[in-house]
Amino acid sequence: MSHHPPFRPDSVRPGGTVTDQAVRATTGRSATTGRSATTDLEATLEGLLSVESFDPPAGFVRRRPVDADRAAAAADPQAFWAAAARELLTWDTPFTQVLDDTNPPFYTWFADGELNLSANCLDRHVEAGRGGRVAFHWRGEEGEHRDVTYADLLAETQRLANGLLSLGVRAGDVVGIFLPMIPEVAAAMLACARIGAVHNVVFGGFAPSAVRERMEVSDAKVLITVDGARRKGRRAPVKAAVDAELGDLPALEHIVVVRGPGENADEVPMTAGRDVWYDELLAAAGPVCPAVGLPAEHPLFILYSSGSTAKPKGILHTTAGYLLGATYTLRTVFDLDPATDVYWCSADVGWITGHSYIVYGPLSNGVTSVMFEGAPDYPDHDIWWRIVEEYKVTVFYTAPTAIRTCIKWGAQYPDRHDLSSLRVLGTVGEPINPKAWLWYHLVIGGGRCPIVDTWWQTETGSVLISPLAGVTPTKPGSATRPLPGISPALLSEDGRPVTEGTGILVITQPWPSMLRTLYKDDKRFVETYFSRFGPTTYVVGDAARLDADGYFWIIGRIDDVINVSGHRLSTAEVESAIVAHEAVAEAAVVAQADEQTGQAIVAFVTLAGERVGDAAVEAELREHVARRIGKLARPRRIVWADDLPKTRSGKIMRRLLRDVAEGRELGDVTTLRDPAVMSALAAKVAAAP
Ligand code: WT7
Repeated sequence: MSHHPPFRPDSVRPGGTVTDQAVRATTGRSATTGRSATTDLEATLEGLLSVESFDPPAGFVRRRPVDADRAAAAADPQAFWAAAARELLTWDTPFTQVLDDTNPPFYTWFADGELNLSANCLDRHVEAGRGGRVAFHWRGEEGEHRDVTYADLLAETQRLANGLLSLGVRAGDVVGIFLPMIPEVAAAMLACARIGAVHNVVFGGFAPSAVRERMEVSDAKVLITVDGARRKGRRAPVKAAVDAELGDLPALEHIVVVRGPGENADEVPMTAGRDVWYDELLAAAGPVCPAVGLPAEHPLFILYSSGSTAKPKGILHTTAGYLLGATYTLRTVFDLDPATDVYWCSADVGWITGHSYIVYGPLSNGVTSVMFEGAPDYPDHDIWWRIVEEYKVTVFYTAPTAIRTCIKWGAQYPDRHDLSSLRVLGTVGEPINPKAWLWYHLVIGGGRCPIVDTWWQTETGSVLISPLAGVTPTKPGSATRPLPGISPALLSEDGRPVTEGTGILVITQPWPSMLRTLYKDDKRFVETYFSRFGPTTYVVGDAARLDADGYFWIIGRIDDVINVSGHRLSTAEVESAIVAHEAVAEAAVVAQADEQTGQAIVAFVTLAGERVGDAAVEAELREHVARRIGKLARPRRIVWADDLPKTRSGKIMRRLLRDVAEGRELGDVTTLRDPAVMSALAAKVAAAP
């Protein structure tokens, strides 16, 4: 590998390397401050694209040393995790067992210990005299502010926990949560955790039919939702839609309805005996709900995620190991100091990022966070940066797709605001392209802030591969190295270790926050993750490259999963939604590279009978998919196909469809039943790209 000198924004480097002064000279924009005097940012970014490695910014002062962790984890990973679990978590009954690996892949951690997760996130901070600290600076879409302290959140959580108990919820019961980004969503999750109920949060952007599916398969007893939702000045009734879709679920005994922020003029249907207003439930409930210690392996939540079949996977996490992962990684990766940092993760709580890095990780660490209800472009495209300035956010965590959207809008929006409070930046969800990395670094981070590109999954519970802010030299596009106690490796197709080059990403040792199973489906759990290379090798589903410095470069999914704006969708799930439409005979869905969203969905559709593919059918199909799954699953492009490429055994060859969608030379077509199908499709796509 060729060696490139690191880029230090504050230092002058001779020999044509880009330095802060060079940046200033060419653009008038200082790499150190990021403030621009001219608009020639493009040239700066182009110039920096050849820089391969960036040392931590010179002025950055790391607060949490990690060298000892690395050494301890390398010497004895179990002893390292046990020490971390004792130091970072508060136990009612201390554990004596650490890892039990006698029945792989069904691992347990700290199994004879007991603790209450909500007590770790709330009570212990209040008892230590920090109840007045703000847990969430909530910011509503119409500019509303609400500061929720740790004491406030504890009070609300206890009342709601008592309310849930009064509705008959018991430890082990499943409670669905379908809420927007409001503080009640954190209280709902914590109230479940307090009494040992298993929460099942569904992303607020999903369609009610997706909520139904997730409630049905998990036998949810109670659903906590909202009267109506607002988005960019528009309102949509939620409760009425939920009723229409879920009203007949036999296991669903109660629906708790939060009065969401803003005016809600809609008529909210309430069914006597089944439905109850959140505020009335709380008012009637007692203020104290003791936090009883639960076994470390008590199930904490299910979160549905897309896999390679149409049926979403109910990923199950348990209490102690999960909380340890979220707690340890947040402070270590982001160098978080709860006493001084103001942290903001822009994700939605309906994704694992929201679970681990909006709710559990931040609260367990006792940090002050921002929670934002709205969209990044409402009321204007500078709202994120306005919020960073107003709350003096120090640590900001978002997705590459959001950064690319900001690039499209232009640097004038962040440039309107003072972003000098920022000290660490993070990304998650998909590989970040170097140009977006550089823009983030210069325009948002002012060249001062380390960027942590965090690789992980719903299944892993917490970050596994990432730079440590201010410690790890970063290479734009690489998630760099594993965290202490984590052992990723690359394998070839036939299972041999790859020490440099491309391979299948696996994790070879269990870690505390790993999923424990797929809800009520141990068989699928083993098949999906632990069958290819045996029961002790976790198969991630991503391909990756390992460079000579031992840095991991995530390439992308190797299963039939599409990553749209960092959100996982299964090709099978979208296909089954499309074929459910009466006009459709057959459909095949593939991903196409997309500058904005990473990947975009392309659907090849064969219509039934004499139906003709026109703009009206196309619009109808897109709307149909939005209704069945959610807006983000709508195909970007629909190609009407007379026939789909199939092997002699009838299997659709998606590889060829990807070639067509991305305008590549077609791969081998000789195994097709009818090779002429491909030339017809290629001609069609070329005619209307
Ligand atoms: C898949 C997991 C973890 C929260 C967000 C997504 C991709 C995730 C990165 C990254 C490259 C990434 C992988 C992974 N991914 N982070 N930093 N660089 N790819 O969680 O929905 O479970 O998706 O997202 O393909 O397998 P998820």
